Amino acid sequence: MTEAEEILGADGIETLLALELAKHEFDSLHLPNLRLIRHFGVMLFCQQPAITARFYYGNDSLALGRLLLPVRGDVLDLCAGVGTQGLLCALTAQRVVSVEVQAEVAKLYAINSALNGLEEKMELRIGNLLEAVYDERFDRVCCNPPLLPVPHSLPYPPVGDGGEDGLTIIRRVVSHLSTLLTPTGSCQIIGTVVGNEAEAAFQELEDLAEDQELSIQLIVPWREQLEAQSPLVRSLALTISQYGNLPYEVALHELLASYQAMQVRYLYSFLLLAHRASARGEAGLVLTHHYLRGSSFWSV
Ligand SMILES: C[S@@+](CC[C@H](N)C(=O)[O-])C[C@H]1O[C@@H](n2cnc3c(N)ncnc32)[C@H](O)[C@@H]1O
Repeated sequence: MTEAEEILGADGIETLLALELAKHEFDSLHLPNLRLIRHFGVMLFCQQPAITARFYYGNDSLALGRLLLPVRGDVLDLCAGVGTQGLLCALTAQRVVSVEVQAEVAKLYAINSALNGLEEKMELRIGNLLEAVYDERFDRVCCNPPLLPVPHSLPYPPVGDGGEDGLTIIRRVVSHLSTLLTPTGSCQIIGTVVGNEAEAAFQELEDLAEDQELSIQLIVPWREQLEAQSPLVRSLALTISQYGNLPYEVALHELLASYQAMQVRYLYSFLLLAHRASARGEAGLVLTHHYLRGSSFWSV
């Protein structure tokens, strides 16, 4: 038996070949562009890291995976990609509904759920966020959205583009939580938000917590200065330059000009945990900062 057969089983290999996700080359099995990852208790296929990669797995996927709390009952996995969070939740949940906007993800999602024997519990709906949810309530909502702050005028891969302040998708999700969650349900989201030296721009999330009667806890592991030398800004500018076919210096200049116009100087990463207020005390927002104690971008 080959190593590939040991991991995937003969049926798994047959399916990958039939779906043209794999091909035989000489005496080995070739998965062009794909990688197989051990993600905590599950295995999953995703794409090799690349600017054009659409079937994403990154450090943010890893960070949210590490923090996901075990859940029973029904789960809504938003911005599902290849099923990264949904698979972990399905280990203990009764049912997982995953929503993803890219229809092309369906094959890999199906392979990943079958590879872990979780296909009976997992359902993929192709659609735009909550448009694919029909008057249903969930015990857990999880989401690793496109989350980086990218000015509207600059081209960026859609899997990462979180809009000007990084919150475009997150504000849409949080503003529907009171109707999405069961009375004791909870939500876990990973994100970034711009801010200044004194604080991150969390006021809107705080207002949403009041409006939606949510108790929100935000863990803020890291912040990075939005300046030309920052590794994060350089990496954003490089991606913009390659994706949009722009000179690097132009991408960097426009990115910094946009942050300056917004009067923001820092990017904060955060992990959000929300409950309906009736289940966990008062509506409102509690912040825990860790960036002063030498954490890293995604981990405390
Ligand atoms: C950062 S990736 C996360 C993928 C996966 N959940 C993970 O953690 O590895 C964001 C995903 O959200 C999807 N997405 C973006 N906008 C969406 C929308 N409006 N509705 C549903 N999915 C969306 C993207 O196609 C992409 O697969």
